[in-house]
Amino acid sequence: MKRIVVFTGAGVSADSGIATFRDSDGLWANYRIEEVCTPEALSNNREKVIDFYNQRRKEMLEKEPNAAHIALAKLEQAGKFDVQIVTQNIDNLHERAGSRNVTHLHGELTKLRSSLNELDTVPINGWKQDPLLRHADGSLLRPFVVFFGENVPMLNRAVEITRRADVFVVIGSSLQVYPAASLLHFIRKDIPLFVVDPKPLDLKEIPNPTQSIVTRAAEGVPLLVDYFLEKF
Ligand code: APR
Repeated sequence: MKRIVVFTGAGVSADSGIATFRDSDGLWANYRIEEVCTPEALSNNREKVIDFYNQRRKEMLEKEPNAAHIALAKLEQAGKFDVQIVTQNIDNLHERAGSRNVTHLHGELTKLRSSLNELDTVPINGWKQDPLLRHADGSLLRPFVVFFGENVPMLNRAVEITRRADVFVVIGSSLQVYPAASLLHFIRKDIPLFVVDPKPLDLKEIPNPTQSIVTRAAEGVPLLVDYFLEKF
């Protein structure tokens, strides 16, 4: 069974009404990364960081998966391909659309984690974290989010998934954040690469045969899924 690996970024959730990071109206146009997405920010201004992710979680729970998430779940459920999603997103819209094989590189808003062990998580109900809540190991709980400068514990898993791809699809990522974006260097050189993004990406250094679909994800991904199911 051919393996289709789908690498998604904030753009796949944009059509659900969730802001991206680097578009002109993106999150990093309104917040400073140093104040909400670094280990130093968490230790120096814990309340502000927890509130930032409370707001992200609240927004996520108010939004719905869009046609792109739904099409990707349909592709997996068709059973014709081994579909693996590797996402940079911390929302749960892929799962709520029905995707089962989802690897989150940068964490998940639906979980909190121990401050001592990066993979020791607990589920969070609702959107609001009690800042004083502790893990069973005694440490204060924190958002299960990989901050800038922190280790990406799921990277090796993502690399192994990517190495075995027969098709690689990039949806809604500016490919500016490493090590996540380095996955493109682990795909076999002969496999087809598809990119869905309303802004054409510069992929000159990627030797693979590349097909760019210059549309919003909610428009282009269902068409791409139909192509895979009917003609691929
Ligand atoms: N459909 C598809 N793509 C879209 C849409 C849309 N409706 N709207 C915007 N995009 C594209 C943009 O053109 C851009 O290429 O989505 C991409 C968003 O890029 P970023 O905002 O940089 O998001 P992402 O690549 O996911 O960022 C990676 O950076 O801040 C960190 O941890 C954070 O996971 C995030 C990482």
